Amino acid sequence: MRMYEIIEKKRDKYELSKEEIEFFVNGYSSGEIPDYQMSALLMAIYLNGMSPEELKNLTFAMANSAKTIDLSSIRVPDKYIVDKHSTGGVGDKVTLIVLPIVASLGVGVCKMSGRGLGFTGGTVDKLESIVGYNVDIPINKAIRQVQDIGVCLISQSPEIAIADKKIYALRDTTATVESINLIASSIMSKKLASGADKILLDVTVGSGAFMRTLDDAKELSKTMVKIGALAGVETRAVVTTMSEPLGRNVGNALEIKEVISFLLSDETTLESEEVRDLKEVIFEIAAQMIKMSGVCEDMEKNKKDIMKAITSRAAYDKFIELIKAQGGHIYNVYMDWIGMNLDMPVLDDKVRYLKEIHAQSDGYVVSIDSKKIGEALVALGGGRNKKEDKIDYAVGFEFAKKVGDKVNEGDTILTVLYNDKEKFEKAFEYIEDAIYIDDVEEDVAKSLKYKPHVLDIIDEASL
Ligand code: URA
Repeated sequence: MRMYEIIEKKRDKYELSKEEIEFFVNGYSSGEIPDYQMSALLMAIYLNGMSPEELKNLTFAMANSAKTIDLSSIRVPDKYIVDKHSTGGVGDKVTLIVLPIVASLGVGVCKMSGRGLGFTGGTVDKLESIVGYNVDIPINKAIRQVQDIGVCLISQSPEIAIADKKIYALRDTTATVESINLIASSIMSKKLASGADKILLDVTVGSGAFMRTLDDAKELSKTMVKIGALAGVETRAVVTTMSEPLGRNVGNALEIKEVISFLLSDETTLESEEVRDLKEVIFEIAAQMIKMSGVCEDMEKNKKDIMKAITSRAAYDKFIELIKAQGGHIYNVYMDWIGMNLDMPVLDDKVRYLKEIHAQSDGYVVSIDSKKIGEALVALGGGRNKKEDKIDYAVGFEFAKKVGDKVNEGDTILTVLYNDKEKFEKAFEYIEDAIYIDDVEEDVAKSLKYKPHVLDIIDEASL
């Protein structure tokens, strides 16, 4: 078999056999196939697509390209181990909030997360803004941690799905990321190798996501649900909007602060405008995970239990337990607004400068382009241009206004936290471009403001 012939076949739109797919996946993982041939094949796949059979064979070959994880030691009778994955976004701190909530309600999770990709943020980078937090603990130790406290949150093990790691890095530099087939096989190969019984996917759609239209997000969801079914791993996708950044903060340490304040919310705060978008997504994903785990089928009851887990602080205590277990530094402080002492993570959050960005006219915020905000964060140093770039964890944006809010000229839209004036100048160009204020009718503004954030749920029944 020759790589040249495989490229030629795909270029000419013929279907590749299982053996040919295994040949290039294994050959590229072991270093026998060079980047230039793999790049040519990826572009042919990007342009010509794949049949369902090819996609299945590609995903399974990538999942089997290295070790798979055995989670049987944390399996509880009559319960399922559920994993979660997001297709990426801006201001996406969902994993960091959902995991302690579900763990505090008896759903154990052993979760591997990624670093930021392009303009999208990564859970692992956010965790590393907590001083001392170790994302690189070996998998056997992580499993012991799940046995002890019900949760671990680590970076992708270097021992699993090696093919995806190499192929993803190549796609990132050859304009072949935004392919439904390649995204589906990348995500599902990692998840299948991670050993869970069921998979919950958060498939994001909008300018700050890889899927720009709802139709594409649904197609990606169905593709991944189908792969899960073929592997005997029940998979469900929650399609969520990522057209404006999720929540009020974008930036690594700032998002950890938002996680803390969400987990310390009382009922009044959880019903307020302040957290509406984040709450909708968090409650849906956490309730779905509880349902899939076999703990409770009833989504309404699950949402009530989630509310209790937050307001009783059980979820916050679990978050602190997780941070302590993975070496994160903690300090104890008297919190005026709660009237008691609390453990808090120590964050790498020192910034030299703050700058408020003001509305230039009266009207309503019509859009906040999350891709541009993600790019502005990279420009500030809060994300990477190159793999080896060091991140400035402290920088980012705090939004005072969200889409649909009324503004008067001079009102603060957001505050930029930064450490380098030159980087601020670059970031400012993206920010200026990202925010659109217009004098629209009140009804139009309202419909923008109250647009749902959970757009669809796709499971095997929807195929
Ligand atoms: N996330 C992944 O893990 N892989 C992709 O291809 C895109 C997003």
